[in-house]
Amino acid sequence: MQKKVDKIFLDKKVKKFEFDQKVVPVFQDMILRSVPGYENLIKNISIITKKNVAKNSMIYDLGCSLGACSRKIADEVQSEKIKIVAIDNSEQMINYCHENYSNYKNITFIHEDINNFKLETASVVILNFTLQFIKRDLKDQLIAKIFNALDEKGILVISEKVISESKEEELFLQDYHEFFKSCNGYTKEEIDRKKLSLSNVMLLDNIKTHERRFKDVGFSDSCLWHRSYNFVSWIVRK
Ligand SMILES: C[S@@+](CC[C@H](N)C(=O)[O-])C[C@H]1O[C@@H](n2cnc3c(N)ncnc32)[C@H](O)[C@@H]1O
Repeated sequence: MQKKVDKIFLDKKVKKFEFDQKVVPVFQDMILRSVPGYENLIKNISIITKKNVAKNSMIYDLGCSLGACSRKIADEVQSEKIKIVAIDNSEQMINYCHENYSNYKNITFIHEDINNFKLETASVVILNFTLQFIKRDLKDQLIAKIFNALDEKGILVISEKVISESKEEELFLQDYHEFFKSCNGYTKEEIDRKKLSLSNVMLLDNIKTHERRFKDVGFSDSCLWHRSYNFVSWIVRK
């Protein structure tokens, strides 16, 4: 894994955020310095998957970026009988995975838009900070498609940055998150430029909206199992 330091937003020119060739080499550094609890999440998503994966079944990692979840699951489950399909619509991300992770024989990396991809029956589906990049009018449809693809005991593991229901809490958490990033070496200017670059690209919901969506498409139960500042993760049961 390349670990180049993320200096993208030292550049004063701000453009709409994309998961492009500039982001690929710095992605791991960017996500570790920006998402509190990320490493713990990846480790535990692999453990949750190990507990729930059915024999000879499919695992989907949707919006896989550099395949961190998929690779951790493959390492943790260590079975040739599972098949992991990791999908991303960033050609550069998937090219990187093809070039660097061909030793992971049970992961198939696919360049595709997850809104168009036809899912086969699966026991575990992972959306780790991906739904927040899906257009608002397509979110319900994607979650419903995942519900329909899951087998009887299947689970969705979904992580998202969330907005708060009260303005006070939102400002409080934003302040702490920005402090987290500054402690990880980002300047105020970098933080402000990235926020601008992500506006209208990262489309956040609050916890209630997510949980209502899970219920509306038919999921029986959801459990918020991880939270770090305004970054949360659920296990959602069919
Ligand atoms: C924050 S990253 C996800 C991080 C990754 N899941 C992990 O655990 O390291 C969001 C990813 O979703 C991908 N993405 C956004 N919209 C997508 C779509 N419609 N289809 C497939 N991938 C998409 C982006 O290209 C990006 O790589």
